[in-house]
Amino acid sequence: MRLQDRVAIVTGGGKGIGKVYALHLAREGAAVTVADIDEAGAQAVAQAIRDEGGRALAVGVDVSDPEATKRMAQATVEAFGRIDILINNASVMSTLPRRPWYEIPVGEWDRVMEVNLKGMFLCCLAVYPYMKQQRSGKIINISSSRIYQGSPNRLHYTTSKAGVVGFTRALARELGDDNIAVNAISPGFTLSDSQIATSDPSYAQGKVDRRCFKRDQYPEDLVGTVLFLASDDSNFITGQLINVDGGESMH
Ligand SMILES: NC(=O)c1ccc[n+]([C@@H]2O[C@H](COP(=O)([O-])OP(=O)(O)OC[C@H]3O[C@@H](n4cnc5c(N)ncnc54)[C@H](O)[C@@H]3O)[C@@H](O)[C@H]2O)c1
Repeated sequence: MRLQDRVAIVTGGGKGIGKVYALHLAREGAAVTVADIDEAGAQAVAQAIRDEGGRALAVGVDVSDPEATKRMAQATVEAFGRIDILINNASVMSTLPRRPWYEIPVGEWDRVMEVNLKGMFLCCLAVYPYMKQQRSGKIINISSSRIYQGSPNRLHYTTSKAGVVGFTRALARELGDDNIAVNAISPGFTLSDSQIATSDPSYAQGKVDRRCFKRDQYPEDLVGTVLFLASDDSNFITGQLINVDGGESMH
């Protein structure tokens, strides 16, 4: 129970990898706000946590909406009294067709930036007053290992995930004096439900072949790193990017 009495928000926690983060944070003792644009998904995950004896709140939120993100933070504090951990996991990814860069509609480019980067900014803004007042906090931003490889055919997505790294480093410098840690994780190709549904099996096999550990990556492979960065075990670590991809990229 490394996170006993801590309070966490997981954006995009209503399904996929975010759901697994939420369940495991709760198993370590944290009260968890499951925040997702898919409110029914968030409700189901919060209920699953409560069914295991944990504490959870579901919030429907579009992370690109400033007022909605403020309400997410307020609802968390009203329910649990504080905010210790923010996992910025929500993103537009699996719904994006893989296509050449010149075929990406400008509106789709804008939406990816709006959710994947502006959404991260707004969620940090929303929790900051509470973490600043507590003089502690852990912000964990989810990037992607495709930034090392320059993976093609989702240029907006790859660009946004590279932006997460600059955001993490600069924000870590601004929040050090408040004792708030800001770190990032770059997952490799991970078999979340949405990736299984939308990816060609040969694409997944190609990833496996390039890893040191030649097997599929699952959401559970990311949990240990998230718990480490959320817990006191990482208290002198900030501004860092930890790559978790079975050794496909070396960073
Ligand atoms: N699965 C992978 O291979 C992989 C690899 C590298 C990085 N990642 C990153 O890990 C994270 C989770 O990936 P996943 O495979 O579970 O993705 P997913 O698409 O299955 O889940 C994303 C979640 O974010 C939510 N969401 C989308 N837009 C939102 C918005 N505007 N406001 C609030 N919630 C919103 C969705 O409803 C969904 O629950 C993402 O940040 C993704 O970019 C995934």
